Amino acid sequence: MLLKNKNIILGVCGGIAAYKSYDIIRRLVNLKANVECILTKSAHQFVTPLTLQTLSKNSIHNCMFEHIDKWEINHISLAQKADLIIVIPATADIIARFASGRANDLLTCTVLASKAIIIVCPAMNTNMFNHKATQNNIKTLESYGYKFVMPESGELACGNYGNGKLASVEAIISFIINLV
Ligand SMILES: Cc1cc2nc3c(=O)[nH]c(=O)nc-3n(C[C@H](O)[C@H](O)[C@H](O)COP(=O)(O)O)c2cc1C
Repeated sequence: MLLKNKNIILGVCGGIAAYKSYDIIRRLVNLKANVECILTKSAHQFVTPLTLQTLSKNSIHNCMFEHIDKWEINHISLAQKADLIIVIPATADIIARFASGRANDLLTCTVLASKAIIIVCPAMNTNMFNHKATQNNIKTLESYGYKFVMPESGELACGNYGNGKLASVEAIISFIINLV
């Protein structure tokens, strides 16, 4: 009941940890949140729209130019209705795009157009995460007020051990509950 009447936009990006978005959606829906997913183009390589749609009990959004329903422009109406936007997993690329104010797809446009709380959950190879470019992008976004649930150390999909593993589902859900 903790998230009753909260509109949460879940941005899913093209990283191997995208499958964990399934569990996050299930947990948010159990807490009575209304969850709507936006997939990046790359995310389609990792998760299926059908599963996201079924778990969230809502249509998914994956295109800037999809049919305009009731004359609402998709990214503007999503941006306005959101209480919170959470990006899981946030790739190095989406973090760079957010930091530079890009608006080249539905997720970046929605984030740029929204005044909602934005929570970013990075997951990537350790060197990608530690790179000065990524760290500077994170600092930039923090200065804009974006919140981060930082990755953990552990075994990564590439087989290496190090920092860059998506934060646990438990940590992400607790972070959301404490914030709203
Ligand atoms: C198998 C595979 C796994 C990947 N995992 C990650 C990842 O965990 N983190 C990341 O930042 N990029 C990862 N990438 C690279 C992204 O898919 C790529 O940068 C893409 O352009 C991200 O697009 P998006 O941010 O719009 O979803 C992976 C690519 C492949 C092929």
